[in-house]
Amino acid sequence: MSRVAVLGAGSWGTTLAVHLAQAEHEVRLWDIDSAHLDQIEGCRENRKFLAGIALPEGIKVQPKLEVALDGAEFTLFVVPSHGMRGCAERVAATGLSSQWVCAAKGLELGTLKRMTEVLAETLPGVEAVLLVGPSHAEEVSRGLPTSIVAAAASETQARRVQELCASPRLRVYTNRDVAGCEYGAGLKNVIAIAAGICDGLGYGDNTKGALLTRGLAEITRLGVALGGRRETFYGLTGMGDLITTAISRHSRNRLVGERLGRGETVEQVLAGMVMVAEGVNTAQAAYQLALQRGVETPITEQVRSILLERKDPRAALEALMARELKSEEWKGDTGRVAAQD
Ligand SMILES: NC(=O)c1ccc[n+]([C@@H]2O[C@H](COP(=O)([O-])OP(=O)(O)OC[C@H]3O[C@@H](n4cnc5c(N)ncnc54)[C@H](O)[C@@H]3O)[C@@H](O)[C@H]2O)c1
Repeated sequence: MSRVAVLGAGSWGTTLAVHLAQAEHEVRLWDIDSAHLDQIEGCRENRKFLAGIALPEGIKVQPKLEVALDGAEFTLFVVPSHGMRGCAERVAATGLSSQWVCAAKGLELGTLKRMTEVLAETLPGVEAVLLVGPSHAEEVSRGLPTSIVAAAASETQARRVQELCASPRLRVYTNRDVAGCEYGAGLKNVIAIAAGICDGLGYGDNTKGALLTRGLAEITRLGVALGGRRETFYGLTGMGDLITTAISRHSRNRLVGERLGRGETVEQVLAGMVMVAEGVNTAQAAYQLALQRGVETPITEQVRSILLERKDPRAALEALMARELKSEEWKGDTGRVAAQD
């Protein structure tokens, strides 16, 4: 039995807390929003982000960060990417240490850094283990079989997190390619928005199959240029997470795209969203990374234009179809000249 701090009481943080408490670990759940924690403690249920799932007794809702962290062997960061640095800075200010675990997916706007890079900068000393994969909170919290990945350069640290989280319902693999796992899990949210746009426009299975295949080629091209291993993108955190997100009724990123495809404006879609859709910021960050590295990312470019320049979704999809004709054969890892898409 381990003591675990979970930072972020959203749908995924609460789900991980419930999962770990069910495995007899002692869990403290903290969030920046103390009124939200009061609501959770009041009814022992997270009605805002994970309605219908009762909190096991093993979860202590803890509004004081120092108390939540004190004595924790593992600390899970499960906050949206835009809140990661601020959250990590508050943890650093306590002077307490732990095995950090990063369960968020996304890139930091401005710095374009991965979440584990943000943690490494803010909390040097202990490498954070990345915990990502195809895992919708709505399904994990109901005990539906799921597989994810614990990634770290150190196999020993990755194994510790694997053992902490694995259960008969949650199978956890290890991987040493942190960059590959993290880019796969983050960049796929942009392609999921594009898949939702196809749904909203009423396009068919042919369109979506092609979009996901070319989307994976694009994620792989950029991810390899940024230091990930090619084969990682065909694993759970790449292809696995992409398929799950792009076909799921639970995915907020796919839903953002579907509503845009049906004709709503970006403002209308985002105004009504309680939960974070990481793909919106990731589209901008990925676009900038691709420009810096000279990597072609045509789908990401169109999604970004829809989100930031209010481009008409149908025109964006038509622009993808009307691109210069190319060979599907793979000719190289990076660069506009070598990459075939
Ligand atoms: N929901 C899922 O199924 C799922 C699955 C895997 C990974 N993730 C990833 O986990 C991360 C969190 O997603 P979520 O779905 O739980 O989000 P959410 O929108 O459901 O909840 C976010 C929570 O984080 C809190 N928060 C925001 N900024 C904070 C800060 N600076 N410090 C502490 N708490 C803060 C909010 O108050 C809220 O309670 C995202 O990166 C997401 O991509 C989500």
